[in-house]
Amino acid sequence: MPRYASQTVLDVVTHIQRALDPTLAYRYACRVGMCGSCAMTVNGVARWTCRTHVDKVAKDGAVEIAPLRNLPVVRDLVTDMSQFFDKWAKARGRFEGSKTRTDDFPKVEPQSAARREVDAAIECIGCGVCYASCDVVSWNPDYLGPAALNRAWTLVNDVRDASNLERLRDIAGDAGCHACHTHVSCTERCPKHISPTAGIAGLKRAVAKAAMRGEL
Ligand code: SF4
Ligand code: SF4
Ligand code: FES
Repeated sequence: MPRYASQTVLDVVTHIQRALDPTLAYRYACRVGMCGSCAMTVNGVARWTCRTHVDKVAKDGAVEIAPLRNLPVVRDLVTDMSQFFDKWAKARGRFEGSKTRTDDFPKVEPQSAARREVDAAIECIGCGVCYASCDVVSWNPDYLGPAALNRAWTLVNDVRDASNLERLRDIAGDAGCHACHTHVSCTERCPKHISPTAGIAGLKRAVAKAAMRGEL
């Protein structure tokens, strides 16, 4: 394997497929940390491989590359992400506005507390690194997991969204935010420096407040 400066784990996988084993299956698209499709397990840790330098992760000059944990393997390094994205849908991860095209634009104060929560969580690229790092997902395959709950938290803080009560109902069950054990592996591993752990704690508070108001 040729080595060179700034070589990434994705470069290594690409070299293997092009020069050594053309049958090797793996997934990537952007190579610049935008699309979230290149995540794999590297020396036992889930990482985005296009932004992971071999120098930083090699142990004794070697890297062991495997598919993401907690997801079914389609082939080689490719996992089936269906359950990961199905859980976004279960957590009502889509924006549901209430305005029509004839209404005025809603105004969101840049410095408002809710807007700051959105800013902290919205940069998720759907890579699945947090999901693969979460032990609760391993124990409880129904658990919605850190990425879907982070998405729900983003929308709960979006003052333009009109479905937050339904969203809180969807994430309040046994497989929702209360299943999180606050192990913080998701937050430690997220390549976008998002804290799903903090968002999930926020969801727990929001569910408790809505329950006290008798809304759930
Ligand atoms: S903080 Fe919660 S969601 Fe994140 S890894 Fe731990 S148990 Fe999973
Ligand atoms: S929260 Fe972070 S680790 Fe999880 S899917 Fe989004 S970008 Fe990836
Ligand atoms: S290839 Fe797009 S994030 Fe790595």
